[in-house]
Amino acid sequence: MNRREVIYISYICQNCNQFNMNKAILPLAIVLAAACGRTAYTSTSNELSFPKVDSLLKVMTLEEKVGQMVLFTADRAVTGPTLRKGYLEDIRAGRCGNIFNAYDADFTRKLQDVAVNETRLGIPLLFGYDVIHGFRTIFPINLGMSCSWDMDAIKESARIAASEAAAAGLHWTYSPMCDICVEPRWGRVSEGAGEDPYLGSLVSAALTRGYQGEDLAADSTLLACIKHYAAYGAPQGGRDYNTVDMSERWLREFYLPPYKAAVDAGALSVMASFNELDGIPATANKHLMQEILKGEWGFQGFVVTDYTGINEMVNHGYATDNADAGVLAANAGIDMDMQSASFMNYLVQAVNDGKVSVKTVDEAVRRVLNVKAALGLFDDPYRYCSEERQDARTMTEENLAAARRIAAGSMVLLKNDGILPLKKGTRVAVTGPLAASRDDLLGSWRGAGKVDQVPASVEDAIKEYNGAANVSPSAGVAVMVAGENCHWTGEAASRSDIRLPKDQTELLKKLKASGKKVVLVLMNGRPLDITEESALADAVLEAWYPGTMGGYAVSDVLFGEYNPSGKLSITFPRCLGQVPVYHYMKNTGRPYVHPEAKYESRYLDVPNEPLYAFGHGLSYTTFGYSDPQLSADGFSGDGSLQVKVTVTNTGSLEGTETVQMYIRDLVGSVTRPVKQLKGFERVTLAPGESREVTFTIDRETISFWRADMTWGPESGDFKVFTGGASDNVKEASFSYTI
Ligand code: BGC
Repeated sequence: MNRREVIYISYICQNCNQFNMNKAILPLAIVLAAACGRTAYTSTSNELSFPKVDSLLKVMTLEEKVGQMVLFTADRAVTGPTLRKGYLEDIRAGRCGNIFNAYDADFTRKLQDVAVNETRLGIPLLFGYDVIHGFRTIFPINLGMSCSWDMDAIKESARIAASEAAAAGLHWTYSPMCDICVEPRWGRVSEGAGEDPYLGSLVSAALTRGYQGEDLAADSTLLACIKHYAAYGAPQGGRDYNTVDMSERWLREFYLPPYKAAVDAGALSVMASFNELDGIPATANKHLMQEILKGEWGFQGFVVTDYTGINEMVNHGYATDNADAGVLAANAGIDMDMQSASFMNYLVQAVNDGKVSVKTVDEAVRRVLNVKAALGLFDDPYRYCSEERQDARTMTEENLAAARRIAAGSMVLLKNDGILPLKKGTRVAVTGPLAASRDDLLGSWRGAGKVDQVPASVEDAIKEYNGAANVSPSAGVAVMVAGENCHWTGEAASRSDIRLPKDQTELLKKLKASGKKVVLVLMNGRPLDITEESALADAVLEAWYPGTMGGYAVSDVLFGEYNPSGKLSITFPRCLGQVPVYHYMKNTGRPYVHPEAKYESRYLDVPNEPLYAFGHGLSYTTFGYSDPQLSADGFSGDGSLQVKVTVTNTGSLEGTETVQMYIRDLVGSVTRPVKQLKGFERVTLAPGESREVTFTIDRETISFWRADMTWGPESGDFKVFTGGASDNVKEASFSYTI
């Protein structure tokens, strides 16, 4: 017996002593202990299997098994409509094996004590929380971070969030949110990575790797949860929780890739979404959970519902009551019930009635326990609660510096007539409803971030940098900080009007009428219709909700301490009537090419082009692009070709440019989009410096779900586009032979 087994025996024996268990329990302890060797789960492991989980399953009662399939909220946060009282009693009775919204080392330790010392098998609790864009140190909202196109920075934000949260006793974050979205009315567009499946996939993989690290059992890593599976970002009319319906092809091509990328990156939990898809709620959708996720993708972890997702199937009109809903969910592949109490109340009976098989329950429990084992909880259930680490790792100078840098890198300079960057010491007026707000900097889903730990609003930061005497309402330059109150975005925050509030537009007009130059700084969580304001302002900086250090980061960008490098990960429409408008659209049979044409696909009252296209974002320097040079006219089979493009910094400041590569398949067995992002590279160039960037195009680059629903390429002619924005590219042609 090795050292760990001995420790485990003494851990079980302690339980026996505490509860005065009789000797009959001891053999059970030995069975468990003998099987407790841990295999570290790394992101490259593909098989999740732990002997101790097999041993546990052999000795668990049906009630104990169902307890492991139950997740309830504690009372540290409110993330849904109801709170279940008495979670402590549920833990003690073995009815609830998992808790969310509980954090801090001391609190989680207390709850863990109950599970470990006061239940028969002492199976540790799993603690989950919405660590979405930071835990205590808050980073920009995810939509903002995706505009950095900087996967190292995004991964770093997740690594820091994980290290802060893990020290506070947490094991599990409800992130990455992988929902592709072309719908700015939807409040939750702020939580995702924008409109593009390729970029979205890289972001969800980077977040997963950042949270889970190299070893899931390390005391600084968190289990990731892929959400909201699937296609939650496509609700009709942009209204949260609303119906989703689309073809299987479009689902696979456009919406599924980021979830899949996170599975491939090793994420071991998935959250089913609230919406229905093709008439079946995701919570009971066998096609999504069993066929695609656990079947085709070989997902090894567990699937949890979203908050009360099971019971909501009654309202969907898919289940007769909560008991029926639980049966449907369990049989479709749900392994854990968040907050519905359906599994807790009805699942044992359903098994006894033969409506759900013991095999199904065992399979779910095995998945949950495997993940607990991968987290190292059977080796040390308290591994993650550490007051010392919590103090040492939280909001450190290093974390705050990273938050400031990542915030600056997430901002997108949408327009600049030359007023920016401001020279240090320029007299400026700082105004607008969000200028002095610290609360809004944090955005929605701000984890355990606290407003009183935000060191500076935008106004404070500008005063600190520029000298308070240089900040005056009478100055000739105004920095107007406007946008949306942060509570207008996030869950249950859909809007039917994506314009700025009228008083903000009026303020901007007044400032202009008084002869000032106006720099409009926007803080918001969705693409807005800023057509009018953008025309009025001399510069527009999209700052999103930039997080704890966001005030300083805005000031850094305005004064040129940081040369903006963000590019839009989502299109800004001219008006809501254009929505959906995004770069991945199809050509139609009547593309709009003749200015005066009537019978072409167009609007009578607005152009087809958006206000700011996907990939757009300015710098304080300028970049020139060569034509793309191809290494060959085409390629075949498993071959490839190279696309080279030379980028030159043609301005007078060092700057970072994101060089983008798109393709178009001209003729397919199903129609193909006019532009698909297929590569990008960030390059930092000194003034006058040039760099050759090379992209490889191979079979995978041009593959898609063909007419027969197989994945692969087709022979034919293609275009490749390179440039600094989806609407600012140069093109070349190539062919492919299968
Ligand atoms: C949200 C999820 C979140 C969960 C737990 C739900 O309302 O849709 O994104 O993870 O609550 O807080």
